Amino acid sequence: MTEHSAQPSAYAQLKHRLAGEPRTWLVTGVAGFIGSNLLETLLRLNQRVVGLDNFATGHQANLDEVHTLVTPEQWANFHFVKGDIRKLDDCRRAFVFPGASGDVGVDHVLHQAALGSVPRSLQDPIATNETNISGFLNMLVAARDAKVGSFTYAASSSTYGDHPGLPKIEDRIGKPLSPYAVTKYVNELYADVFARCYGFRTIGLRYFNVFGPRQDPEGAYAAVIPKWTAALLGGEAVYINGDGDTSRDFCYIANAVQANLLAATTEDPDATNQVYNVAVGDRTTLNDLFAALRVNLTDHGVPATVQPIYRDFRAGDVRHSQADVGKAVQLLGYAPTHRIGEGLQEAMGWYVEYQRKQK
Ligand SMILES: NC(=O)c1ccc[n+]([C@@H]2O[C@H](COP(=O)([O-])OP(=O)(O)OC[C@H]3O[C@@H](n4cnc5c(N)ncnc54)[C@H](O)[C@@H]3O)[C@@H](O)[C@H]2O)c1
Repeated sequence: MTEHSAQPSAYAQLKHRLAGEPRTWLVTGVAGFIGSNLLETLLRLNQRVVGLDNFATGHQANLDEVHTLVTPEQWANFHFVKGDIRKLDDCRRAFVFPGASGDVGVDHVLHQAALGSVPRSLQDPIATNETNISGFLNMLVAARDAKVGSFTYAASSSTYGDHPGLPKIEDRIGKPLSPYAVTKYVNELYADVFARCYGFRTIGLRYFNVFGPRQDPEGAYAAVIPKWTAALLGGEAVYINGDGDTSRDFCYIANAVQANLLAATTEDPDATNQVYNVAVGDRTTLNDLFAALRVNLTDHGVPATVQPIYRDFRAGDVRHSQADVGKAVQLLGYAPTHRIGEGLQEAMGWYVEYQRKQK
């Protein structure tokens, strides 16, 4: 899967267009994993970016790393607002880019700020609700009042809940299996109502297990790929919840970034006020993932000989997950560039380097 076909991909055309015609973007959750990758891509395309974050789970180090990856001129196009989406005033402050010749309004919102993790939401449903629902509503209100061109937000594959169908198709969902899943579904309902009642453009992106550089390997709520990689690098135990046959459609960050840019800028009225699966369309079991990580680390000169330890299934987890990405392909021109193997190859260097810096 590459972008080098005879016809340039929709994404290649978009990047070309944006580079010649910079716009102003607001990325919430900019110090987090997905937010900082959006920031990096947008700055590399010479866009103006306002970033909003309260560092609840994000890190200044992610912003510092992006700083090193772009030119000084590109970094000057970034304006950071430390703020909390649970406060409407903080949200409103983030809708202005202070340009050299005066304030510039935001064209596109990429709303990523949220408390992720199913287990965290089971532990503290009120905290998850406050950020993911009340904070989301604040962002919608602030975006509506600022008259932005589009509002693209991080939805989640957890919305499929207990629906048994595979692959997952956008309009066939079941009952949520965790407080986190409830919050992400409520986001979709609010975004839909705001689009209908106030006539502005919203697009939800149901991410399926996104992974890549700057995804936090630390803490109780770390995602499986960074957590296992860090454990393997440190020679620690790796736990598999269940029999290892649980499967996921792991989506490399480059695919998720592409989906955001295409969604935010679409001019097709049929493509807005919609939700889209963002993944690859593959299915990888946890056992296969574990084996792939070991091979990748060995390729990086880190012999990973640890055997996994199997334990109970985890509450609130969906057994199998695999996306049908046809809707995004058809309506947004989405064309994932990385399958899991290619993504792991690209990401592994970052994890090895991260671990080296921790020592
Ligand atoms: N990573 C995935 O696989 C995945 C899958 C489905 C959905 N999502 C969603 O994508 C989004 C980004 O996830 P991520 O993996 O980058 O997580 P992350 O934790 O790395 O990033 C979230 C960012 O939001 C910030 N934040 C949290 N609460 C905030 C608040 N009240 N005010 C301002 N900022 C706040 C955090 O500090 C952090 O920087 C989230 O909405 C998440 O629910 C992620």
